[in-house]
Amino acid sequence: MRLLFIGDVVGSPGREMIKTYLPKLKRKYNPTVTIVNGENAAAGKGITEEIAKSFFEQGAQVITLGNHTWDKRDIGEYLDKTQNIIRPANFPEGVPGHGYTIVKVNQYKVGVINLQGRTFLPPLDCPFKKADELVEKIHKETPIIFVDFHAEATSEKEAMGWYLDGRVTAVVGTHTHVQTSDERVLPHGTAYLTDVGMTGPRNGILGMEKEAVLYRFLTSLPARFEVVKEGPVQLNALIIDLDPKTGKANKINRIRIDEEHEFYE
Ligand SMILES: [Fe+2]
Ligand SMILES: [Fe+2]
Repeated sequence: MRLLFIGDVVGSPGREMIKTYLPKLKRKYNPTVTIVNGENAAAGKGITEEIAKSFFEQGAQVITLGNHTWDKRDIGEYLDKTQNIIRPANFPEGVPGHGYTIVKVNQYKVGVINLQGRTFLPPLDCPFKKADELVEKIHKETPIIFVDFHAEATSEKEAMGWYLDGRVTAVVGTHTHVQTSDERVLPHGTAYLTDVGMTGPRNGILGMEKEAVLYRFLTSLPARFEVVKEGPVQLNALIIDLDPKTGKANKINRIRIDEEHEFYE
């Protein structure tokens, strides 16, 4: 069984990449389940109901989010009523939406958990304790669990990988927007990658226009960040092959599509 995960889709250039390449990726790799991180899909900040629906129509079964979840006002209502778009599970009790989901695809059940780190990000409930709670709950239904750990610090992401090794199929990082090259299957069968990277403009700073970001670094004054609208675009993703009976990963491969690579792995 195979799982495809696509990293943070940034603005309309990222959405165009999904439109063009998601069908091609599905044809080439034939994944049983496809998960997309959509936290930056609406102009770099958050997601709208319309965009989420377009991802589902284009073949994503689950959408994960992150620290930008709440940037589009009113999204809470959509998150409440839609099971397969999930926001970090370790937000305080009572906030809108769901932190995990279990999707049925063919004869399989696939659990997906979204968690957010606490290092260099606003304080939230403990992602490790929340992971324990959700893994135990989902294991009653399926051994297949994918974790999107939306976090800034490599150390926190590696810690989560080792913490959950053998208990989930994969711990994959998002949020930093730059793909790391440390993919591997940990000793007890959990596929791990520190960050899958983003899907969006290449000639910016994490997808945003570099002038405004530089201005902020140089002056410490507030600046309005806009998604880069022109120039080369990239898609970053990964494929995980797993044993559906045990939920253990056999193989993890990175995918990068840009001017130099197509279906690179
Ligand atoms: Fe992001
Ligand atoms: Fe983020």
